[in-house]
Amino acid sequence: EIEDLVESLLSKMSLEDKVGQLFQVPASNFSFGNAVKTDPPEKLIAEGRAGSVLGAFDVRRVFELQKIAVEQSPHRIPLLFNADIIHGAQTIFPVPLAWSCSWDPEAVKEACAIAAKEASASGTVYNHGPMVDVGRDPRWGRVVEGAGEDPYLGALFAKAQVEGFQGESLSDPETIIACLKHFIAYGAAEGGRDYNTVDISEATLRNVYLPPFQAGLEAGAASVMNAFNIYQGVPVAANQPLLVDLLRDELGFEGVLISDYGAVEEIVTHGYAEDEKEAARMAALATMDIEMATRSYEHLPQLVREGKVPEKLIDESARRILRLKYRLGLMDDPFRYVRPEKEKEYHFRDDHLKASLELARKSIVLLKNDGALPLAKEAERIALIGPFADSRDLLGPWQFSRYSHETVTLYEGLRDIGYAENQLLYAQGSGVTEAIEGGIEDALEKASHADLIVLALGESSDMSGEAASRLSIHLPEAQLRLAEAVAGLGKPVVLVLTNGRPLVLDWFHRNVNAIVETWFLGSQAGHAIAEVLTGEYNPSGKLTMSFPAHEGQVPLYYNSFRTGRPITEQNKHTKYISKYIDGPNDPLYPFGYGLSYTRFDYSELRLDRSGIAGDEKLRVTVTVTNAGRLAGEETVQLYIQDLHGSVVRPVKELKGFRKLRLEPGESQEVAFEIGRDDLAFWSPANGYAAEEGAFVAYIGTSSAETLSASFSWR
Ligand code: IFM
Repeated sequence: EIEDLVESLLSKMSLEDKVGQLFQVPASNFSFGNAVKTDPPEKLIAEGRAGSVLGAFDVRRVFELQKIAVEQSPHRIPLLFNADIIHGAQTIFPVPLAWSCSWDPEAVKEACAIAAKEASASGTVYNHGPMVDVGRDPRWGRVVEGAGEDPYLGALFAKAQVEGFQGESLSDPETIIACLKHFIAYGAAEGGRDYNTVDISEATLRNVYLPPFQAGLEAGAASVMNAFNIYQGVPVAANQPLLVDLLRDELGFEGVLISDYGAVEEIVTHGYAEDEKEAARMAALATMDIEMATRSYEHLPQLVREGKVPEKLIDESARRILRLKYRLGLMDDPFRYVRPEKEKEYHFRDDHLKASLELARKSIVLLKNDGALPLAKEAERIALIGPFADSRDLLGPWQFSRYSHETVTLYEGLRDIGYAENQLLYAQGSGVTEAIEGGIEDALEKASHADLIVLALGESSDMSGEAASRLSIHLPEAQLRLAEAVAGLGKPVVLVLTNGRPLVLDWFHRNVNAIVETWFLGSQAGHAIAEVLTGEYNPSGKLTMSFPAHEGQVPLYYNSFRTGRPITEQNKHTKYISKYIDGPNDPLYPFGYGLSYTRFDYSELRLDRSGIAGDEKLRVTVTVTNAGRLAGEETVQLYIQDLHGSVVRPVKELKGFRKLRLEPGESQEVAFEIGRDDLAFWSPANGYAAEEGAFVAYIGTSSAETLSASFSWR
C-alpha cells in the first residue's frame, strides 16, 4: 500500500519538487565544516527545497519547521529530522569505544533503544549513527565513536546498535532510523588525520572495513552515510563501484544513502569534479539520495534536461525518501514525534540512568594493578588529584544532553559510595592542557596528608571525535608534570583515565601502582568509577583497541599480517628482521586485555578431532577457573589463524567469545564450534571462501595470552 501512495505522490511532483526532497538543511547556522552558504531553513522548507533537517534537537524547533513544511511547501510533505545520537540523547551512555570494551552487545542494544526513546520524544526520527568504522589508528579522533579495531566485534556491535535504534518496527514512534556510517574505509585515513587520503587494497576493504556494514545491513539499517575519503582515487561520494556495485547491487541496500556533511561539494575540493554541477552529476549517478548541508543538487534539474543524469535516478532517490516518510507514519501525522509530554516522561529517567550506570561499569578496563586496588579500608584519606577529579567533562564527544550539569563526577561518586568529605583531599593540580599556577604545590600539599593518591588525568571531550586527530597520543605535558611530581612522593598512586582513544602509557605503567581506563563513561561516570575503585564492582572490561608501547608503532592492531621476517624469541636480537631498533613491536596492552580483581586460569584446551571437512564443525573446549578470592566475570576469547592462503592471512582473528561469571574456586568448561564460515575470507582469486589447509585455534584471556591447538579443514 505504501508503494501505491508513494507512486501516486511522485506522479504529482515536478522534477524540481523531487529534487527538493534530496536536500538536508541544517536547522540553524551551526556548521561542521565549510560555512553553509544558503538561504535560511525556513525559506528553503517553505519553497519545497528541503526534505530533511539536520540537528534540530529542540522539540519546539522541530514543531516550527514541520509546520512550515506541511502548511507552506508545494506538496505539504513532512520533513525528516536527523541528528547524531551516538551514545545517548539526554541520558548519556559511555562512548562507543568504551561500551565496546564491555563485549556486551545486548547491553549496547538496550542503550540504543533508550537513546531512541529519548531522542524520538524530541522529534528526531533519523539518526546519523551507528558509526561502524573499524579504527586502527589512535591518532584518529573518531576511534572514540566506533567499536575498535576488530571487524568481528565491530559487526556484532553494528547489529546491536541497529536493532536498538530501530526496534521491531520503524512505525513505532519510539524508534529512530539507523544510518550506518561512514561507508567506507574512513578509519584508514593516512597518518590518522581526519578527512585524509585512504589507500588500501580491496582485500583489506572487504575483510576489515566491510563486515560491520554487512552486519548492520543484515540487521535492517534503513540508511547509510558515505565516508569523506577517496577509495582507489575516487571520492566515495562519487564512487560508483563502491556505492552502486558493492553497496546497492552486491549487498542489496535499498534504503536511503545520505552524503556526509558537505561531501558532495567536496568532490570538487578533492579535485575529482571540475565544479559543483559535475559533482552533483557524479553523486547522483552514484545513487546518493540526500545531499547534506550543501546545495550542489540544485543543478540536478538542468543536468536531467541536458541528458546527463537520467530522471529515473532522481525518481528513485525521491521514492526512497518518501517511502521512509510513509514507513515512519509522518505522512499521516507529521507531528507524531513532537511529544513534549513524552520528553518529560522519558528524559533522564531513573531506569535510563541505571542502564547507563550498568554499561559504564562494564566498560571500565583495569590495565594495571599491583594490589593497590580495590581501595583498602586503611586508605582512609585519599588525595583526589587532577583535572578530571571533580570534572563533569565525562560525557565525551557527540552528546547534546541538556542534563550535562548532572553528570556525576569522580569526587561525587566517591562521596556517594561512602567516603566522608574529610577523607577526600581534592586538588585540581593542572588544567587539561595548561598548567595552573600553584597547581602542583596544592596537589603535593593535599597528597602529603593522604594514604593513597587517585590521579584523575585524561583528554577533554573535544580532544577526540570528528576533526580531533592528535599528533601526540600521550597525555598533555602539563598533566605529565603533575603526575611526575605526585609520583615522586612515593605514596601509592592509582591513575584513573578519562579519554577517547588509546594513549601511550609506558611511563605510567612503570611509575604508578594501578591504572584504570574509564574512557568517557557518560551521565553516571563518577558512580561507576567509584564502584570499581572500591571493589563494589569487580572490573571486567577488555580492550577493543591495542594500546601502543610507543607512538611510533601506530597504526597498531593485533590482527596484522605476518611478515617475511617476523620477530621471534630466538631471533629478537638479530638485525634483519621486522622490528624497531629502539623499542618493541608489541603493544603495551593488547587487544582483548583487561584485568580483574580475581585471576582466571585457562587449562585443557581440547579439540574433538584434528580436522574437519566441508560443513563439519570442530568443537574446541577449554577449562576456565577462577583462581582468586573474589567472584568475577571473564571474557573467554577464541582466535583462529589460517597458516597459509592464496593471500597472506592475519596472525590471529577473533572468531568468538563467551562471558562467564565464576565464583572463587569455580571452574567451567567453555565450548566453541568452528566451521567453514569462521575460516572464510575474501581474496581476489576466490572471492569469499575458506581455503583448505592447516589452522590454529587460540583461546585465552586476551589476544596475546592464549592456549593453542592445530587443526585442518578441507
Ligand atoms: O553525522 C555526522 C558525520 O558523522 C560527520 N560529519 C557531520 C555529520 C553531521 O550529522
